[in-house]
Amino acid sequence: MDKKENNIMEKIVSLCKRRGFIFQGSEIYGGLAGTFDYGPYGVTLKRNIENAWRDIFINSREDIYEINADILMNGKAWEASGHVAGFSDPLSECSKCKKRFRTDHLENIEICPACGGKLGESRNFNMMFKTQAGAVEDSSSTVYLRPETAGGIFVNFKNIMDSIHPKLPFGIAQIGKAFRNEITPRDFIFRLREMEQMEIEYFINAKDWEEKFVELQKEFKKFMLNIGLDENKIHEVEISAADRAHYSKKTIDFEYDFPIGQKELAGLAYRGDFDLKSHQEYSKVNLEYLDDESKEKFLAHAIEPSIGLERTVLAVLSTAYTEEDISEAKDGSDMRTVLKFKNNIAPVKICVSPLLKNKEILVNKAKEAYKNLKKEFTKLNLGVIVYDDGGNIGKRYRKQDEIGTPYCVVIDFETVESDGCISVRDRDTMKQVRVKLEEVNSYFVNKFSN
Ligand code: GAP
Repeated sequence: MDKKENNIMEKIVSLCKRRGFIFQGSEIYGGLAGTFDYGPYGVTLKRNIENAWRDIFINSREDIYEINADILMNGKAWEASGHVAGFSDPLSECSKCKKRFRTDHLENIEICPACGGKLGESRNFNMMFKTQAGAVEDSSSTVYLRPETAGGIFVNFKNIMDSIHPKLPFGIAQIGKAFRNEITPRDFIFRLREMEQMEIEYFINAKDWEEKFVELQKEFKKFMLNIGLDENKIHEVEISAADRAHYSKKTIDFEYDFPIGQKELAGLAYRGDFDLKSHQEYSKVNLEYLDDESKEKFLAHAIEPSIGLERTVLAVLSTAYTEEDISEAKDGSDMRTVLKFKNNIAPVKICVSPLLKNKEILVNKAKEAYKNLKKEFTKLNLGVIVYDDGGNIGKRYRKQDEIGTPYCVVIDFETVESDGCISVRDRDTMKQVRVKLEEVNSYFVNKFSN
């Protein structure tokens, strides 16, 4: 990472803390590596991204069903998936300072990058978090926190078949927590030990795999553009046969230009019938699909679009993060920081305030406008409206710019004394227009309903 990129990442981390998006996990105890807690704006940002994903993959289609499986699953499911035997990263330990590193992330696999000591031999380290279910601690009570949400999807394939009776092709989707004991969690929310994934297993007849792969690839990109990612920063990289899993005929990684460089954001993998076959073998339950027309029984194949929610949050934040010189002289003397979120993603849609907080007449009018707008937006499920009368109007604008609020509404003396209009300030252009008080609700409903 060069100095400038490093700097941008630090600025994003600091803004996220300052404005209530994301905090270090367990911060008052010195933190816990690889964990982060979300504040009010972070929670809403995440939810807006999840909903944008649901809009593309679930709400606007009729063939993908969302489930919510438990994080704790029968240990056999992870034996079947191959995670117990093979979900590991290579690890080297320094003989001097005892720090541990991922061998495949090291430039020199013999020298410790922290203290210069000698690194021990690389060995495989299983990344699943293990725990015990019940009061008896033996191998039969070992359970794992799921390392991916996909496992919960495969074990529910039969339940969906038997209850919903879908015809191929159809998908099962899940958004939820996944846990990985990463050797070196790092880069803010990029590499975590506790994360959320948004995954789909799209089940198909094997003969259709190429057509469906292309269709899902397009849908994935549509989702990314819909949440405001920059098309020029998205790189669709086909993984070579030597690097992809043996059962996969094709895998495409969606890499993105993060402040830390071009890195994996999401993956799209054709997994064949590997998973259902293995779960059928381990569970001894028939997971075959019966084709009504041909009366043929076979195992469905799966194509898997998988994306980490936090990496998506980081991609959205780093794309939206903008520093602008707003001085007349453009000499850097007056800078502002803005999160230029797309309207559908912005955690706060509109901030309403009185020009001065010590003028009762303005405050009353502003509170009335705020309540009306909030009621309308809640009824139509259009998002969050806030009221703010702290500091002076300039400071409020700067604060809302950093939160990424697309519009600020201000009630001033003209509103109550002459024109009956409020001023609407656009976050990106900083231009203001006047809108009649009685038309404010419809003005914004138009802007936010698409
Ligand atoms: N079911 C397939 C699967 O889990 P993966 O490439 O290991 O594939 C999918 O993970 C996505 O989950 C990645 O593309 C990334 O967005 C996210 N992800 C994986 N490990 C992560 C971690 N330690 N921290 C944050 N996100 C992670």
